[in-house]
Amino acid sequence: MKSYQKLTTDSTQVPEAGEDNVDGRPLCHQKLSAWWLGGGLLMVAALLSGVTVWVLGQIWWSQHGTPPLAKCVSIPEDLRFDCYPERNTVVTQELCEARGCCFVDSEQSSGSTNGVPWCFYPPDFPSYTLGSVNETELGLVGFLTRKAKAYYPKDIEKLQLSVEFETDTRLHVKITDATSPRNEVPLEVPPVTKKEPFGLIVKRKTSGTVLLNTTMAPLFFADQFLQISTLLPSSYLYGLGEHRSNFLHSLEWNTLTFWARDVPPTESFNLYGVHPFYLVMEKTGAAHGVFLLNSNAMEVALQPAPALTWRTIGGVLDFYIFLGPDPNLVVQQYQQVIGFPAMPPYWGLGFHLCRWGYGSSNETWETVKAMRNFQIPQDAQWNDIDYMEGYRDFTVDSQKFGALPQMVEDLHKHGQYYVMILDPGISSTQPPGSYWPYDEGLKRGVFINNTQGEPLIGKVWPGLTAYPDFSNPDTHQWWLENLNRFHSIVPFDGIWIDMNEPSDFMDGSSEGCSQGKLDNPPYVPAVLGGFLSAKTICTSSRQSTSAHYNLHNLYGLMEAKATASPKAIKSDALIKLREKRPFIISRSTFPSQGKYSGHWLGDNRSSWKDMAWSIPGMLSFSLFGIPLVGADICGFSGSTSEELCTRWMQLGAFYPFSRNHNTQDEKAQDPPAFSPAARTTMKEALEIRYSLLPYLYSLFHRAHLQGDTVARPLFFEFPKDVATYSIDKQFLWGRGLLVTPVLDPGVDWVVGYFPRGLWYDYYTGSLVNSSGENLKMAAPLDHINLHIREGTILPTQKPGCCTVISRGNPMRLIAALSQNANAWGDLYWDDGESLDAFAKGDYSYLVFNVTQNTFTSAVLHSNVEATHVTVDVLTVYGVGEEPKIVTVNGKEWPFSYLTNQVLTVSDLQLSLSQGFSIQWK
Ligand code: NOJ
Repeated sequence: MKSYQKLTTDSTQVPEAGEDNVDGRPLCHQKLSAWWLGGGLLMVAALLSGVTVWVLGQIWWSQHGTPPLAKCVSIPEDLRFDCYPERNTVVTQELCEARGCCFVDSEQSSGSTNGVPWCFYPPDFPSYTLGSVNETELGLVGFLTRKAKAYYPKDIEKLQLSVEFETDTRLHVKITDATSPRNEVPLEVPPVTKKEPFGLIVKRKTSGTVLLNTTMAPLFFADQFLQISTLLPSSYLYGLGEHRSNFLHSLEWNTLTFWARDVPPTESFNLYGVHPFYLVMEKTGAAHGVFLLNSNAMEVALQPAPALTWRTIGGVLDFYIFLGPDPNLVVQQYQQVIGFPAMPPYWGLGFHLCRWGYGSSNETWETVKAMRNFQIPQDAQWNDIDYMEGYRDFTVDSQKFGALPQMVEDLHKHGQYYVMILDPGISSTQPPGSYWPYDEGLKRGVFINNTQGEPLIGKVWPGLTAYPDFSNPDTHQWWLENLNRFHSIVPFDGIWIDMNEPSDFMDGSSEGCSQGKLDNPPYVPAVLGGFLSAKTICTSSRQSTSAHYNLHNLYGLMEAKATASPKAIKSDALIKLREKRPFIISRSTFPSQGKYSGHWLGDNRSSWKDMAWSIPGMLSFSLFGIPLVGADICGFSGSTSEELCTRWMQLGAFYPFSRNHNTQDEKAQDPPAFSPAARTTMKEALEIRYSLLPYLYSLFHRAHLQGDTVARPLFFEFPKDVATYSIDKQFLWGRGLLVTPVLDPGVDWVVGYFPRGLWYDYYTGSLVNSSGENLKMAAPLDHINLHIREGTILPTQKPGCCTVISRGNPMRLIAALSQNANAWGDLYWDDGESLDAFAKGDYSYLVFNVTQNTFTSAVLHSNVEATHVTVDVLTVYGVGEEPKIVTVNGKEWPFSYLTNQVLTVSDLQLSLSQGFSIQWK
């Protein structure tokens, strides 16, 4: 925690707000607005795409010195940008003024105790000056120079600024050292060729909303301290992960830290993954996003102005600004830069069961058999580290897990799949010649080295371990060979990569860490533990492309890439994985991770609160381009209860990635472990999921194709409805299905918000006509509320024990009519597992429509897969009058009609591969 030393200020010295400062100039905020409105100091470019962008000719410049108190106190508290973010330092007036900053005890001057910094920048704190500017193909490039040193070592005196309008909706602003190269994140951003204007202060032409204004605080660019602040146009800010928080962030002096870390999710801690991307809903209902492509330890300080400060300790300031203006578009535009997520195998969307603490392969197998016995859908069975010999990767405990190969064979016979865990730490203590992964790794030099050039040794489950350096291509080859060798013994189908922050129980290494600037940077962001190597390896350690200092946050991404890369699969190594789509779930993640893996939200607890936290967690990863996400259903640590687990199985049936996982030494929480009533409810929830898989799969296709979200916040569909902005207890699947889970104990009702329009009860078709209101609904323990949005057509399928069965079952199409009696839906269908099925054209794509009392299915693209499926039932919700006649492809057909306006046409037996029409009159 930061603390300040109290200053006794003579309050009579405090001038009135608004009063001019001593040298007669207007006060900070007024002066600045004058700056960017005044002609001489600005370069102005009027732009396409509905935005105007300014680059200021001069930013923050004056001599260093103690700023007059009158000038300081006149700065509104919300606009005080922290000049002394260091924690564990008692910030005295002396220390503060030594930096040339204002020191005002806000507790004394205004009674604020809520995080307002006491040490903050005066309006004229020295910064950089913009020098020569030249036009480039896409914008401009200029140089920034600093005339006075700031207070962090190795200030970089000359910076290069480039501002490029890369597409109609994307602005790229990069600030880097003008003379020497610095670490940059190796992200392959597709090249752009378009020539458009550029800018730095970004203002929407239509609304006048200023999206970015970086003039309120100085720019820093020292070797290990880079900082830039901006005002925000509203307080509706989302993203910035991985953190445990409400979906809508608090801007009440809230600092979020980004440094991959192994720790059970806790508010205000840096967690497993790093996603420096935010989305803001502007007051007009438009949205924009900002991505800082930087992999160093960093923090983002939020303050109520509203404003935001980026603070990173390395790399460059490389910003992408996405102009939306619709939130869905912002997230798509972001993924155009980081890459679209991989298409998961169809079975990956089925139900997964796991636990830490299955005592043996037989115990694991018994659980699968119990699931089958109760006919509870399950596609994949998982094992945690229990299966290994001494917790060593690529080994099997032959005593307890001797029957593992047989179990996997049995899963495959039943059309089910096997996923097992791998940790990155490779045991370094086995006698030479007895453990191939380490021996061979040493020989090939694939491990991360310490500063002496020897493999760095830390400690994870097997004891002392070395860490593969996944930035080295040789490591990928070695990893694949390990996988291949193991696969010939246990033919696994997917891989769970855990502990890849990377975790190290030793803090650094068995020999500690160096005293150098990488292990002890001049500024340490607010990381848990207070130092960078807390529960991870030394940041000075050496990887093939850079120091771990720069690559730490990329470890999980690089491991996922090595594990999943389709290119690699085409080589011999994973050929036994049948050259099918990889299925990888990773704990640590970084932008572009979705291309290689999904994510689970880590070590939650079996508590009602934790269940509720899973929704904002899941929605944040939707924003980060990792749609395959879910939390440990029923909770990882602690003891679940039957009621909690029942509710959680209902909610978890709607996680895009649905897995029940439990820690060791806790009682079983798989569905068969509960009473018949609970078991049945869990089974029913999973059956609804399995019914909806054709819809879910089609949503994943859209995510893969263009970056649409799968689990979607309500405001993405209703951006003009401010009441949706803070909702994170409900969510949508795509645009058309609203999920309202029960998140509290002991209740049989739930309150949910229904944006204006018609909503139909998924089960019965009963209508809710909402004016945009909260509604209280019955929610007995065996029921999860689901509503279909007007105008939606959902493709569903009779559920089965597993997707191999459900995929072949007849379909039921559910059309929920809009007020104008229209509806729309689509279906993407392929074999569910081939690599690049879409790219190769080996898929079917159908569009469903209702207009003028006619349902049509149009086959826009077809392959053999669609010939295996029939459409058996059409249900139409919201048919105002009972039809007299129904025809199918022009032929009269029997039907039923219920008074709640539900029309059902059954026994259709239409091939999915042929277009058809069904009419009612
Ligand atoms: C930590 C993971 O987060 C958890 O899911 C797993 O069960 C344990 N490691 C043991 O492997």
